[in-house]
Amino acid sequence: MNQTPIKMALVTSTVMLFKMNIRPFEIKDLAVTSKVHKAAFIRQKMSYEWIECNFKAYPKSQIFVAENQKNEIIGYIHWCQKSGFRFEVILELEQLAVHPSQQGKGIGTKLIKDSLPQVQKQLKSRNAVIKHVIVTTRSDNYAQMLYKKTLNAVVEATISNLYSADEVFMISRNIKI
Ligand SMILES: CC(C)(COP(=O)(O)OP(=O)(O)OC[C@H]1O[C@@H](n2cnc3c(N)ncnc32)[C@H](O)[C@@H]1OP(=O)(O)O)[C@@H](O)C(=O)NCCC(=O)NCCS
Repeated sequence: MNQTPIKMALVTSTVMLFKMNIRPFEIKDLAVTSKVHKAAFIRQKMSYEWIECNFKAYPKSQIFVAENQKNEIIGYIHWCQKSGFRFEVILELEQLAVHPSQQGKGIGTKLIKDSLPQVQKQLKSRNAVIKHVIVTTRSDNYAQMLYKKTLNAVVEATISNLYSADEVFMISRNIKI
């Protein structure tokens, strides 16, 4: 049976997503990951230095990249342990970005879903567990929907005029991974 163009596009993007690898950031990824940061966050400066210093903050910070079949990095996620190395970890999703040319294809969703178990595994090596996940985003950013969908996070506060606009503070309590 002939496939319609829409079905074909859906199959192609599903196959591409399936073959997308979410793996820990390595120092060789710095230049290209910085480019994703620069393209995704137009108001933020010094992309190279930002990614570099967060990478150096391991294990407080853990960064994972989305790598396609051509070994191109098209997105990244940055997790951060808050307020010291605790047994019950408050984990912040500090930053998530997908290159603008690749947004809306499920890569952001995959970055969250596939990296969180890897963070959990690393924490388990020191017998720690994730208690809650926190994340903030601009109140008008559709990323809010993404965090609801993937983390079951809810808005607990709205902070007016924080970075460039009002920011929502979201928490996923007692998260099951
Ligand atoms: C936010 C971001 C990481 C999402 O990544 P993505 O790969 O585009 O997201 P996905 O394709 O997995 O979509 C996830 C959900 O986001 C929402 N979404 C995605 N694109 C959208 C759009 N253009 N309009 C409205 N909602 C959209 C939908 O709820 C979608 O879920 P659904 O497909 O089940 O409806 C990406 O858009 C990005 O890098 N934006 C710029 C940087 C940023 O704002 N980062 C987050 C704040 S730290």
